[in-house]
Amino acid sequence: MRLKPDTCTIIIFGAHSDLAARKLFPSLYELALWGHLPDEYRIVGVGRAALSHEEFRVKVHEKMATLFPESLQDEAGFRSFSARLFYVRVDFAQCEEYHALKKELMEGSGESAVCRNLLFYLATPPALAPVIVRNLQHVGLGERGCSSGSWRKIIVEKPYGRNLQTARELNTIIGEVFHEERIFRIDHYLGKETVQNIMVFRFSNGIFEPLWNRQNIASVTITIAEAFGIRDRGAFYEEAGLLRDIMQNHALQLLASVAMEPPVDFSAESVRDEKAKLLRSIRHFTPEYAAQTVVLGQYEGYHSEKNVAPDSTVETFAAIKFFVDNWRWKDVPFYVKAGKNLAETVTEIVITFKCPPQNYFGPAESCSYSANQVILRIQPEETIAIKFGAKRPGEAVITDPVYMKFDYKTSFAEVGVTPYHRLLLDAMAGEQMNFIRQDSVEYSWAIVDAIREAVGDHPPETYPIHSWGPQSVEDLYG
Ligand code: BG6
Repeated sequence: MRLKPDTCTIIIFGAHSDLAARKLFPSLYELALWGHLPDEYRIVGVGRAALSHEEFRVKVHEKMATLFPESLQDEAGFRSFSARLFYVRVDFAQCEEYHALKKELMEGSGESAVCRNLLFYLATPPALAPVIVRNLQHVGLGERGCSSGSWRKIIVEKPYGRNLQTARELNTIIGEVFHEERIFRIDHYLGKETVQNIMVFRFSNGIFEPLWNRQNIASVTITIAEAFGIRDRGAFYEEAGLLRDIMQNHALQLLASVAMEPPVDFSAESVRDEKAKLLRSIRHFTPEYAAQTVVLGQYEGYHSEKNVAPDSTVETFAAIKFFVDNWRWKDVPFYVKAGKNLAETVTEIVITFKCPPQNYFGPAESCSYSANQVILRIQPEETIAIKFGAKRPGEAVITDPVYMKFDYKTSFAEVGVTPYHRLLLDAMAGEQMNFIRQDSVEYSWAIVDAIREAVGDHPPETYPIHSWGPQSVEDLYG
């Protein structure tokens, strides 16, 4: 059990965002109910709408009642949480409006410790991050204006920038206002129990790591599939597309976790060193190479979604064959596929091993049929399966695939916390292991920028809703 974080105020920019409604307020509320937040804390929502504190509390309640009605059963618990919610109207671009925020933060609570430690959360589109950070600095809410013995930190939602250049610019601006150890670039995938378990699986067991290389592994397949569309995030998706929304962060972080070298020790810097090194080793995408390794798609009916241009060429699907040019992985394909409105909602990593040198038990296809696999299912089931061949009972010697399975649900009594619970607490405590360091952000953007450039104006292929993506993915996977 970790220690309670310091008394602090959490300031959420983008208080009316989908993320705030679906993840931030519910997670903070549950953390409060479980007694994981400090005894004294405040949460200040910041947004453009003109609302009183009370109207804001009602809005948060309404959203939670719609999205998670069962979580509101403890009425007294919610009342106590709600009393810690405050609201300040700020037009993010208007510097002078930040004075009202400062006043609320410095004077509002009347309790010095609460207003001394400030955790800013930017749940806003990437383009707004630089202006918000500059304006915080302007009114003295950055780290430089912080008295000794207290702290100011900032969590920045993904995507961090829109490309390599804007990510660097954003970093320069944030770096002038906050020290690196106070900057938390969040990718909530890194807070998932099953994602954190990838490293444990690889490095706490002696039997897998010796096989985890090009001598034994034929391919690695990473799938992040969602059976639903962009919901009401048309405006965001038109700006982002799947490459920025999922490939640059969640997918490449999974790839890095499954392929990285063992870290020197289990510290934030050592682990992040190895991830950065891995991302740096990914083969560069030239136009010729991308033509054979990248398929982008858009689901049928995307144009009719709210806030989507009728002729939009934004991708809602990507399948990419990556290669990692290092000693361990040279020439092993990493097939990474992610998309919206696919056949199923599932995130998994499948490591497929090479066939044994002799196929005694024919027929010829029996090797690929029952090739050994390690299947790390990240969600919705939280399982690890090992697939191997076994003799089918009977006279003939025929091999069938069978599975050995570990399931979090049946093996552990504890229910894991959700990523936002964990990462909010990590940021309050200053633990950076599960946040992305700037070098990794840049390597990931360099990859995605090169893919975008290589693909150019080539429009994405249309795919039917609830399929596994465009037709040409088959060619890619061979
Ligand atoms: C978010 C993306 O980062 O992750 C969404 O913006 C996506 O498009 C979501 O749906 C998936 O996260 P999870 O944890 O719900 O699978």
